[in-house]
This record gives sequence, structure tokens and C-alpha cells, in this order.
Amino acid sequence: KETKDQLIIDAGQKHFGATTCKSCGMIYTASNPEDEMQHLQHHHRFLEGIKYTGWKKERVVAEFWDGKIVLVLPHDPSYAIRKVEDVQELVDNELGFQQVVPSCPNKTKTFLFISDEKRVVGCLIAEPIKQAFRVLSEPTGPESPNSKECHRAWQCSDVPEPAVCGISRIWVFRLKRRKRIARRLVDTLRNCFMFGCFLSTNEIAFSDPTPDGKLFATKYCNT
Ligand code: ACO
Ligand code: ZN
Repeated sequence: KETKDQLIIDAGQKHFGATTCKSCGMIYTASNPEDEMQHLQHHHRFLEGIKYTGWKKERVVAEFWDGKIVLVLPHDPSYAIRKVEDVQELVDNELGFQQVVPSCPNKTKTFLFISDEKRVVGCLIAEPIKQAFRVLSEPTGPESPNSKECHRAWQCSDVPEPAVCGISRIWVFRLKRRKRIARRLVDTLRNCFMFGCFLSTNEIAFSDPTPDGKLFATKYCNT
């Protein structure tokens, strides 16, 4: 009798647990029809959004063993601009950002990391800025029960410091994280943002960082 019960429980766990889709990275419950529907919708939209077909005119600014970085500028052909808009929509969706219009859209530089599988797996959007406010310290520790809700409420200094380049978005596809893609995007940005000079980490600023963004930025700027 006991063996039979156990078998049923095991089968149930396998069926009811959370699944991570190996292509789109979404975590969902396979046994829940609503969740499955949501996954299917996300799956197609997402994979279509990050698909990179290759462009007649592309500005390759860095090449690696596992991909390349392409720079898109505001006056590029519409197929490039459209791809940037599609990717930004996916990113904003994931970050829960409202679609914000950049203050100076004709000075925005977008860096896309294209994987060998011809997918946009990383995106960095940068714009020129004049000043930034240094993040002072975390207002809530990780043990705080509501640290999630105030995760954007880092305390900032009220003394502006000169800066040159603001990173308004940085994103890496969930299944490709911790492979130094973000690091390579920022390195490339520092090299390409202003002609003929390599920006120091003091000259770049991350706008409104998420917890992931803050961990990355702290690590990046200290190494
Ligand atoms: N937790 C702890 N340390 C981290 C994390 C993390 N989640 N992410 C990066 N780091 C640190 C690590 O030390 C890492 O080096 P290691 O892997 O050798 O230990 C180092 O930063 C470099 O990390 P990368 O591999 O270059 O970073 P990755 O390609 O994974 O991208 C990113 C980081 C962009 C923050 C990614 O996690 C992401 O897309 N997150 C969701 C979107 C997001 O929150 N973006 C930031 C929004 S803020 C803004 O846009 C201004
Ligand atoms: Zn999927």
C-alpha cells in the first residue's frame, strides 16, 4: 500500500512543479492551463523579438568566440531601429519599466550582443548625461521583509558629480547570464561612446538600477 501512495506523490510532484522553458527562459507551472497559455504567448513573442536575421548594414564594434556586439545609432535603417524597439519593449516588460522616451533620442546609442545562435541575448542603451548622483548605501538589508518593495529606493547623494554617459538599460537574456555578456557590453560602450577615448568607470552612471543591476555595477566598477 505504502509503495503505491509514494508513486502517486512522485508523479504529482513531477507534474505540478515549476518548469523553466529551455528556449525562452520563462518559469511557469506546466500543469496550470492559464500559466501554460501565458507561457506560449510569451514564448513566441519573446523568441520573435530576439531573433536576429542579420543586416545588410551592421556596425560590428566587437567580436568574441561566442558572439558579437552590434551598435545601432538613431539614423540607422528602419529594420535596425525596429529591432531595437522590439528588444527594448521586451526588456522594459521584464523590468516593469514604463516606456520612457529618452530625453535626447537622437543621441542614444544601443549595443546589442548577438549570440552565435543569431539571437539578441544582451542589450545596453546609453545616452549622454552631464551629471549623476552617487548611490550611497542600501536603505534595507536583505533580511528586511519588504526589501523587494523598496528595491529602487537606494539613497542617493544630493551632490551632483560630473558624468559623461548614462546607462538607461542593461539586460542579458535570462539563460545567458553570468557569462560576462554585460561586462563586455559596458567595456565596449566605454570604448565606443566618445571617439578616441576610453571612459573611466567614474564617467559612466547606471540609471535607476535594479538589485541585479546594482550587484553587477558594484562588481564591475570595482574591478
Ligand atoms: N548577483 C550577484 N553578482 C552579479 C549578478 C547577480 N545577479 N550579476 C552580475 N554579477 C556580478 C558578478 O560578480 C559577475 O561576475 P562573475 O559571474 O564572474 O561572478 C559580474 O557582475 C559580471 O557579470 P556579467 O556576467 O557580466 O553579468 P550578466 O551578463 O549576467 O548581466 C545583468 C548582468 C545585466 C544585471 C543581468 O543580470 C540582467 O539582465 N538582469 C535583469 C535585468 C536587470 O535588472 N538589468 C539591470 C537594470 S538597471 C539599468 O538598466 C540601468
Ligand atoms: Zn518558452
